Amino acid sequence: MIPKETVNQIIETARIDEVVGDWVNLKKRGANMLGLCPFHNEKSPSFTVSPAKGIYKCFGCGEAGGAVNFVMAHEQYSYPEALKFLANKYNIEIEEEEQTPEQVLEANAKESLFIVNDFAATYFNEQLLNSENGRAIGLSYFKERGFREETIEKFKLGFSHDEWTNFTDAALAKGYNLQFLDKTGLTIVKDQKKFDRFKGRVMFPIQNISGRVIGFGGRTLSADKKVAKYLNSPESDIYHKSRVLYGLNLAKKSIISQDRCFLVEGYTDVISLHQNGIENVVSSSGTSLTADQIRLIKRYTQNITILFDGDTAGIKAAFRGIDMILEEGLNVRVLAFADGEDPDSFAKSHSTAEISEYLDKESFDFIRFKTNLLLKETGDDPIKRAGLIKEIVSSIALIPDPIARSVYLQECSNLMDIGEQALLSELNKVRRNKLTKRIQQQERDEGPPPDFFHTIGTPESEEKSTKIDVLAEQESDIIRTFIKYGSIEIEIPTDKESEGDLESIKASVAEYLVFEIEKDELHFNNPIFRKVYHLFKLAVENETQVEERHLVTNKDNEISSFTIECLMEKYTLSLNWEEKHKILTLTEDLILPKKIHKGICSWRLNRVEQLIGEKQQQLKGKNADYDLILADIMKLTEAKRKLAHELGRIILH
Ligand code: CTP
Ligand code: MN
Repeated sequence: MIPKETVNQIIETARIDEVVGDWVNLKKRGANMLGLCPFHNEKSPSFTVSPAKGIYKCFGCGEAGGAVNFVMAHEQYSYPEALKFLANKYNIEIEEEEQTPEQVLEANAKESLFIVNDFAATYFNEQLLNSENGRAIGLSYFKERGFREETIEKFKLGFSHDEWTNFTDAALAKGYNLQFLDKTGLTIVKDQKKFDRFKGRVMFPIQNISGRVIGFGGRTLSADKKVAKYLNSPESDIYHKSRVLYGLNLAKKSIISQDRCFLVEGYTDVISLHQNGIENVVSSSGTSLTADQIRLIKRYTQNITILFDGDTAGIKAAFRGIDMILEEGLNVRVLAFADGEDPDSFAKSHSTAEISEYLDKESFDFIRFKTNLLLKETGDDPIKRAGLIKEIVSSIALIPDPIARSVYLQECSNLMDIGEQALLSELNKVRRNKLTKRIQQQERDEGPPPDFFHTIGTPESEEKSTKIDVLAEQESDIIRTFIKYGSIEIEIPTDKESEGDLESIKASVAEYLVFEIEKDELHFNNPIFRKVYHLFKLAVENETQVEERHLVTNKDNEISSFTIECLMEKYTLSLNWEEKHKILTLTEDLILPKKIHKGICSWRLNRVEQLIGEKQQQLKGKNADYDLILADIMKLTEAKRKLAHELGRIILH
């Protein structure tokens, strides 16, 4: 363990331009430096280093991060290895903290599992390529499926002989410990006997985000219906099925650059799409989709497209997937393949361009997907139609973001030709029921709830409280953005064009937000947020920055605890922190401009709705100037329509 202070010292000392400069020839360009990206092939430089911010980013392939990330990515080092490398470069001494014997044991045990799996993957791969049976049975099977050699290499595919102990014998002969062969599940140990779990199968190693092998899927080559088609490694200390996505390690770059992730059902779907040029694709392996898996994707993109075969089982899985993805706050599109076709077979018979076009054209947002599918069954039957509407609304009700909810509600209203108000009251009913259930659950779990829950029961107060909810959520979203990203610079497209390209200006997130907020005279209802906003506004006006420290140690307790909560969010993610470090910098600044744009649009939309409400009240007044007020309402309604459209564009695609 490297002590935290030393880690900080290393991070503070390492200069990004010097570190990158060891490998990449950098030329100065204004405040930044530019060079050829070491992570992908390019002819003109798009690899940018910002010495001021201590980060690098390639606008070609999406690689980005700080000095430590660079060393990790470039040298394939783990986080501690990269730190040690930098410490050496800058003559910083590392006094490693002693680990307790238990920690050493635990770390060693896990490491041993990785090592055994790594051996197994290499062994199976060698058998596939070099042994007589491997080539005759395994390799010819893959060839028949159309997998090319470089694909087999990329996915480290392999072959296990149809013998009882072939693999186990080889591993033991090489000195691997039976205990770890057992723990990885590669060997089954039973009453003094031991034998291979995988026999007579082609092997698909399952890798974690950093590319280490954590388990296997093995497909049988026998036609016997009684043999399970796929066999998977059991759970182990390094393999938690619900938290792994097959192919993610190879897909993540492309997911970021395409800002979309395709979710398929099987190993071979992932591989075939890859081989045919679509790399932003993953599948869950050996389990049905889990919330943890969706959260893994969420770190790279907000957009998921589910691809599946259009049979009944497939549709059922897709429906479940849709609801889970919506519940995690992501945007979901769906594509159902025609009879008997799946991503694997489709990819094989089409060019990359054709596949891309198909994925784009044939996928629908979930409302259209559900409507198209269910309308076939319902026809004109009003009762069935009502059922369909309920079905769709119940999906919409899962979406955490109120604005996204209303965008979808509007779409549903257009598609089904039914008033938004009716849909809204159905939606509120569903949400109210859910809320009631949650409260009851809470009461059961932790005794009586705080007072305000009791006020939510009736319809009118529900109406009101949803409105207040929405505003509060939006305000809090904006303030979070200030705190987490205020000082980050982003490019903001303007409406002006020069030489055909949209012009863009650079500004810090705080500058941009203050500008937008002041322009529309938006204001914060929550007094804490008002205070925090004021600090940021002052800073922007004085061209300084609000320091995190100042907020964290603020004498106003609520400001300080809100800030800490925001910053914690920024630094805690479920995965271990080595991987986390690498990823946060990548995703967040890529998704950020979009997120901010959405936040501002949503808030504006709400404000416009509020103004419309006020005007409608004025109409009721005795001396109201109808023409004037109506003209205002029309203007506002037009503004509302534009905003809703803009939001729809951000959310629906
Ligand atoms: N699966 C599994 N165990 C099984 C069957 C399937 O774990 N007995 C998982 C595998 O991850 C598989 C996925 O479910 O990749 C999809 O199953 P299926 O569509 O039957 O397999 P394909 O991937 O299409 O395999 P193939 O094309 O080789 O038939
Ligand atoms: Mn298949």
